[in-house]
Amino acid sequence: MTDLIAPYGPLAFFLDLHPDLGDFRSDAIAGLSAPQKWISAKYFYDENGSKLFQKITELEEYYPTRTEKEIFSANAPAITAGVGPRAAIFEYGSGASEKIEWLLNGLANPTAYVAMDISKDHLIESASALARDHALPVAAVCADFHAPVDLPQNALPAPAHWLGFFPGSTIGNMLAETAVAFLNRAAKTLGPGAKFLLGVDLEKDPTVLNAAYNDRDGVTAAFNLNLLRRFRRELDARFNIEDFEHYAFYNAAEFRIEMYLRARRATAIEIDGLVFPFRKGETLHTENSHKYSLPRLTALIAKTPWRLDAVWTDERDWFAACLLSNS
Ligand code: SAH
Ligand code: AVI
Repeated sequence: MTDLIAPYGPLAFFLDLHPDLGDFRSDAIAGLSAPQKWISAKYFYDENGSKLFQKITELEEYYPTRTEKEIFSANAPAITAGVGPRAAIFEYGSGASEKIEWLLNGLANPTAYVAMDISKDHLIESASALARDHALPVAAVCADFHAPVDLPQNALPAPAHWLGFFPGSTIGNMLAETAVAFLNRAAKTLGPGAKFLLGVDLEKDPTVLNAAYNDRDGVTAAFNLNLLRRFRRELDARFNIEDFEHYAFYNAAEFRIEMYLRARRATAIEIDGLVFPFRKGETLHTENSHKYSLPRLTALIAKTPWRLDAVWTDERDWFAACLLSNS
């Protein structure tokens, strides 16, 4: 059976490379067996997780989305001129496909938009809505961006070049070496002459950072705890959800927010008859969110085939948009 369906509703194609449930089960069991229990942040994003992330982006304390949008709109002419005409856009971790609107409106004759995300239902819904509102071909790829993706190029009109779009500082959720491997793979996927527009969250006062990941309304806590709900819904895991709480703090030595699910009391999670005990206060590590300085960001990009053409920041230097080219 092919993973490619073309056309798919209003989409030019839908390519389904979603990892299967077996991966979630084996990753959960491997992570819960490690001395520091952990699980990849990619498992936050089922339909409910994607909706909760959307709510996070609207929180007063969560400045990244608002700040990045401000940078894009303040610098749209320079950014779109830097990208050039007749680009096909490939967005990594496209989520609600909201940040693409200004690019589609500002770019000269974009040839296609391909949204890629791991959260399948949310991806299909968002990309289809966009396809209905725009004349250009829109396609969707459900895949893990840590794995290579072969684009079905012949299903779309030939562009002058590709533009990789990776906003939101999702790159900050990767360790530095993983971010380098990701950018290397993106250069291969998008090919020579490609451009890449990257959003990166910057270092700032830890009070601002701690507030952004510990919001008053508990939306970030619900987003974090949704991982445990997925354990129960999809893996038939047995445990008391009330035994766990959201825990996030800025680790200044590592320049990152670290997010955990912490046991309020001695407890256990059982999956497939395997019991994973937690001591009171023991944690399950769920996410890192790295914050860069411009020198550390420049050094990271220098380890990849991408050339840094331009950087735009907001007035407070809280967030950066970088335009890269693969020459
Ligand atoms: N680009 C949007 C969404 C950022 S949230 C914005 O800037 O607001 C991160 C997005 O990346 C989510 O939509 C999530 O589903 C997706 N994602 C996380 N890990 C992923 C992975 N390993 N592969 C593909 N998509 C992933
Ligand atoms: C998607 N990513 C960049 C978000 C971040 O800020 O690291 C995910 C998130 N985690 C908690 N709040 C938001």
